[in-house]
Amino acid sequence: MTKREIIECLRGRGKACLAPTDDLFAAADAARKKYCGDEVHIRGVIEFSNYCRRDCLYCGLRRSNAKLKRYRMSPDEIVRVAAGAGSVPTVVLQSGEDEHYTIRDLDRIITRIKKQTGAAITLSIGERPALEYKALRQAGADRYLLKFETSDKELFKRLKPDSSYEERMRCLEDLRKTGYQVGSGTMVGLPGQSDGILAGDILLMKKLDLDMIGIGPFIPHPDTPLKNMGVGVRHAVHLRDKGLRVIALARIVTRNAHIPATTALGTIDPNGRQKGLRCGANVIMPNLTPQKYRKLYAIYPDKICINENFSDCRGCVERLIRSLGRTIATGRGNSLKSL
Ligand code: 5AD
Ligand code: FES
Repeated sequence: MTKREIIECLRGRGKACLAPTDDLFAAADAARKKYCGDEVHIRGVIEFSNYCRRDCLYCGLRRSNAKLKRYRMSPDEIVRVAAGAGSVPTVVLQSGEDEHYTIRDLDRIITRIKKQTGAAITLSIGERPALEYKALRQAGADRYLLKFETSDKELFKRLKPDSSYEERMRCLEDLRKTGYQVGSGTMVGLPGQSDGILAGDILLMKKLDLDMIGIGPFIPHPDTPLKNMGVGVRHAVHLRDKGLRVIALARIVTRNAHIPATTALGTIDPNGRQKGLRCGANVIMPNLTPQKYRKLYAIYPDKICINENFSDCRGCVERLIRSLGRTIATGRGNSLKSL
């Protein structure tokens, strides 16, 4: 698809055969079926630290947010939680950019989880030097998530004042070279984000040849500088629909990338994840974080599953998958691209 066609589809009009939203969603669902099948992959996420050295304007974990109570899980606790998760085929280890954990710490955590569970391990711990990515890959990490957040350099600079777009791209390149399955993606509805920028995001996903793509709506956090950006019911509906269209277009354009129906989508609409799975998504990521920490991993407000534990969430996502007539994947859910 051309940039112009993508923009037309994002607006829900235009001639590119995908004009009405329903047609776009049906086309994306057919592409998902053709390239990924009916299996939905479950990835259990452990949010092991909410400390972050960055100050991104949109994120509740930003270091300037003094209101947030910070926590770190110990290596033993992280391993215990991962090992207690039954047979979840993938464990995602996620945190703010927290330099407290050394490469040795992370190496041991990864080694022990792999040994005890055999699960695939995905890291989502931010920007690190190439050598560290290499060491963690050697320790046994299989995949890495690092969202580019927006493909527009100026918007990136405004929203991530202490980070650089070029450095982010360097990290993604290093991860690829090191042999990780690489995931990246964007937020939808960022202040200052046009449909042209979103179309650029989708084309960048294609260009990076991503194994995994995360797309979630931006939800303003009250303790961040962007707290007043977009509130109200009409905005939420518009945002949800735009988010779903970006998922649908990402599916059509990238074909077989793994795309989750994100928690953020489930936060702005109680059926958001179901809708995501019906317009291109093929992954769902239940929360494995111990309950006492969940409300503290407040990237955005009103996150779902704060009062649930892992077995609640696992049962919930399994019911959700079945209710859509889809199947729960049993394999590890490796990249569908030829590695
Ligand atoms: N709303 C939605 N998503 C957010 N993220 C950060 N802040 C917000 C927010 N306010 C997303 C970013 C980040 C991921 C961990 O969470 O895309 O990469
Ligand atoms: Fe947590 Fe549904 S996934 S309760």
